[in-house]
Amino acid sequence: MRIIDRFTQEHQQFVGELDRLKAHVDAGGDVASAIAAARALATPLLKHAENEEALLFPDLIERLGHTSSPVTVLQEEHVIIHGQVDRLTAEPTAADFAKVFAAFDRILREHIVKEEEIVFPMSASLLGDARLQEMDQEITAAV
Ligand SMILES: [Fe+2]
Repeated sequence: MRIIDRFTQEHQQFVGELDRLKAHVDAGGDVASAIAAARALATPLLKHAENEEALLFPDLIERLGHTSSPVTVLQEEHVIIHGQVDRLTAEPTAADFAKVFAAFDRILREHIVKEEEIVFPMSASLLGDARLQEMDQEITAAV
């Protein structure tokens, strides 16, 4: 498996979780369950971003340079998303949760689309399947 295929599978799980959580928030569901769901999502989401940054991005940065590439945008978005995760998993009020979640939901979905439509195809053409499979073996070995 190429690492980008693993990341795409993980994205599908995250989008499913976002859909469930969004339905809960939109229906005015209780904040304690919403915080619990955000905490359950946080661990795999942060691990996913860490794997992208440790295994995939360095090769891309080497090819594309350190500034003004789609990878720099993704790194900046990771910082924003992690800040939102911190706020959602603390003890926010229902109103605060709903406010932060609205931004988190939008940015995370856009971020995933950017990776899948721009950065993963770019990774496939720049780095090739063999290198992307090698990266995936590093991930499996580390777990
Ligand atoms: Fe991702």
